[in-house]
Amino acid sequence: MNFQRYLSAKRTVDDRALNRRVEDRLADELRERDRLRVLEVGAGVGTTVTRLLARPWLPDRVTYTALDIEERNVASARIRLPVRTAALGYAVRRAGDRFVCSRGQRRVEVAFRTADAFEFLAATDEAVDLLVAHAFVDLVDPADALAAFRDTLAPDGLAYCPITFDSETIFEPVADAEFEERLLDSFHSHLDRSGDSRAGRHLLSLARDGGGDDGVGGDDGILAAGGSDWLVRSRDGGYPADEAYFLHCITEMVEGAVRSESAIDDGRISEWASRRHDQIDVGELVYVAHQLDLLIR
Ligand SMILES: C[S@@+](CC[C@H](N)C(=O)[O-])C[C@H]1O[C@@H](n2cnc3c(N)ncnc32)[C@H](O)[C@@H]1O
Repeated sequence: MNFQRYLSAKRTVDDRALNRRVEDRLADELRERDRLRVLEVGAGVGTTVTRLLARPWLPDRVTYTALDIEERNVASARIRLPVRTAALGYAVRRAGDRFVCSRGQRRVEVAFRTADAFEFLAATDEAVDLLVAHAFVDLVDPADALAAFRDTLAPDGLAYCPITFDSETIFEPVADAEFEERLLDSFHSHLDRSGDSRAGRHLLSLARDGGGDDGVGGDDGILAAGGSDWLVRSRDGGYPADEAYFLHCITEMVEGAVRSESAIDDGRISEWASRRHDQIDVGELVYVAHQLDLLIR
């Protein structure tokens, strides 16, 4: 599996899934600002920064730092950004290690960094207006993430956490319901070893309950929240864009995760994966993952 191609193939799936109501609220919150300091953690190949650059509501002066722990992702993001922003009508130039993207009145300076999010957040003394964590919080401890985000945010800062996984994985059709349930339980247990397979709901309660001491807590901690489920299915026998590749990768990830749990016979896991790959090849597989988008103060 090529992880950079997987992240790129994920873009159209995310485009469909993102919760418009949560994004509208983000846009409302930013409308009065003419300057914005953004930090994105777990930025992958830089898909989110270009998605935001396409939005009409982004303020005119933006500094955007996008970091990822994997150098290969960051290298790929540096290659993709000029191409994708030029396609959006931006003039792009390099200024040291930054990209300066200009279009009309808007000027966005983007810097990519290879770093661990928690180490970076602990070390930085620059306040941030908007912290973006797209498909990230489920990979870590949501309580640690929220505490680190809040420590870095300016007093009126916001954390935008779209595509936060929340414990439901569906592959259709199902041949053996009992086996499928065991396999997916094992997959979710594996996610819990390094992250949190129920991160969406946990972040929701943490953000609502937390932050009382600094006067921003109570129910006001969450400005908007809503579902952003991935749903991938074929039409006219084929999947859109590069989504067949996305599905093959998801199948491989589930297979690898379940295998490493050693709770299910290896042969049966291989059979499951092989049947799923075949179903993708003929456009039969439907895949759903339950996720939440959150906008947190
Ligand atoms: C599921 S991917 C999402 C990437 C991107 N946000 C997107 O949606 O296309 C999660 C990303 O977080 C990065 N990551 C995982 N742990 C990290 C950490 N502790 N600090 C920074 N990045 C991390 C991974 O390398 C990966 O690129």
